[in-house]
Amino acid sequence: MKAQLEEIRTRALGELSDEADEAQIEAVRVRVLGRSGELTEIMRRMREVPPAEKPLVGRLVNEIKNEVEARIAQLVEHRRREALSRSLAEARLDVTLPGLRMPRGWSHPLTQTRERMLEIFEAMGFEVVETQDLEDDFHNFGALNFPPDHPAREMQDTFFLPGGMLLRTHTSNGQIRVMERRSPPLAIVCPGNCYRRDELSVRASPMFSQIEGFMVDRAGVISMAHLKGVIAEFLRAFFGPDTGVRFRASFFPFTEPSAEVDISCLLCKGAGCRVCKQSGWTEILGSGMIHPNVLRAVGYDPMQYAGFAFGMGIERTSLLKLGVDDMRLFFENDLRFLAQFRAGEAAS
Ligand code: DAH
Repeated sequence: MKAQLEEIRTRALGELSDEADEAQIEAVRVRVLGRSGELTEIMRRMREVPPAEKPLVGRLVNEIKNEVEARIAQLVEHRRREALSRSLAEARLDVTLPGLRMPRGWSHPLTQTRERMLEIFEAMGFEVVETQDLEDDFHNFGALNFPPDHPAREMQDTFFLPGGMLLRTHTSNGQIRVMERRSPPLAIVCPGNCYRRDELSVRASPMFSQIEGFMVDRAGVISMAHLKGVIAEFLRAFFGPDTGVRFRASFFPFTEPSAEVDISCLLCKGAGCRVCKQSGWTEILGSGMIHPNVLRAVGYDPMQYAGFAFGMGIERTSLLKLGVDDMRLFFENDLRFLAQFRAGEAAS
């Protein structure tokens, strides 16, 4: 039996050469040390061994078992190191390779328009204040001198919410919200979203955005001339220095006198074309001197204070400025359309 053990040892160690691969190592492990392997088999036959030899055989079995296990561990470790250095050699990092280019976004054309408009007003000393979309009747209508039976207060025009609130129909609520909590002198622009019960179409949308502006100071200090100066300055900065600007008498409940402002048609430069209906002019905003009733509604004395106000749509202004002929394009998020206004951002 001793001879048999020696043979098992010689054969196992012989097979566990430095070149042995994983499968060969595993085969030796199973054959020699496995549950029905050669060494287990010998232990099972221990009964046949004469008592005097038993300790010797037992020791020899253990010795071979340890020796084979150690050799296997050594080979496994050796192979692990080899694999590691091979993968390190192969995976050499080339830091000069170009990186992955991440696509960079840009602002929506409406955002570009709004930011450019605000930038011009800020350069003139106006402060930007955002006010709320969700309003009550007083701030959207009452304080702005809308009579109780004014058609804008009808369900067909305004989104009313349960509990008497509504979605503001214009950013003119900004006048009331700001004047209510602050004192003149004020020069403020209020950008924001507005809502009206219109169908989405070429020229209209149920949600759109406006910029409201107003300036309030002591009566006698501020006049319609300031309104004209600020508006003409803004329009020429925004549309170009050669833009014609025209004031037309109009009516709004919250201004007196009121004026609508036209710019010379950007397409035909005033000559007359299909877009301006041959008039040479395009309407761009509403304006006027703040009505005394509006000043009273926020607690200002109209004998002491005066001011002017104006309001314009951002979508409408964008259509004109960017030469787009359908408002729906602004809301569809079609990248083929939006990508045409990438450059506008870098320019501004
Ligand atoms: N609130 C008006 C609108 O939504 C726009 C407007 C007109 C605002 C005249 C003004 C103004 O401040 O003076 O159509």
